[in-house]
Amino acid sequence: MSLKIRRGLIKSVLVTAGPTRERIDPVRFISNYSTGTFGYEIAREARARGCAVTLVSGPAHLKPPAGVKFVAVETAEEMKRAVLKNKADCVIMAAAVCDWRIKNPSDTKIKKDGKRRLLELAENPDILKELGRKKRGVLVGFALETGELEKNALKKLKEKNLDIIVANRLGKEKKLFGSNAIDIFILDHKGEREYHRNKDKAELAKIILDKVLNVNI
Ligand code: CTP
Repeated sequence: MSLKIRRGLIKSVLVTAGPTRERIDPVRFISNYSTGTFGYEIAREARARGCAVTLVSGPAHLKPPAGVKFVAVETAEEMKRAVLKNKADCVIMAAAVCDWRIKNPSDTKIKKDGKRRLLELAENPDILKELGRKKRGVLVGFALETGELEKNALKKLKEKNLDIIVANRLGKEKKLFGSNAIDIFILDHKGEREYHRNKDKAELAKIILDKVLNVNI
């Protein structure tokens, strides 16, 4: 086990939240439906438990919790820079980072001209994977799946060298973005698994922090 930080010794936590935005031109972007609620609840709960908390957030219409160091970012690249320069004991990547950015964003507003338009995308860096490569603290990732939940969560846990992964499914019948009561599946690097159903994000933030701060990972 690569962890140097043991039970009870997590004093500082970095949480990422919200979507990122990737610019097409000065007035347009691509993004996703993330509201940031989960990450903000986790940051609030970590602060309530006495941790020094940095919240790195993409654009979200939420008030940062009191007592938290707030860093506003827009793009995945900006989020990566903010995350990599922080030296927290634990990083919880709850942000919905855009997997792609526009390859050649325009400096001026793109005008319509009646012609077909194609957007070329370039892959964004995987921030969590990079953190996993230079592992120095406790690393918690999220997984949003529309397919096989447990299998994909385990794959991400291993590939990104995580201690814990929190996975949720975006089902047809159930909203995830913007809805408060959701189902999650938590898996740790020892193979321990937990299911929590129909709980609100504030309640789930407590469950996640219990696991992160008190369980001997
Ligand atoms: N993540 C990240 N950087 C990215 C993409 C994702 O740090 N460029 C992080 C997310 O914050 C989350 C985890 O990786 O904690 C998993 O994100 P998810 O979107 O579920 O999966 P991906 O790794 O992007 O894989 P895929 O989209 O193929 O399911």
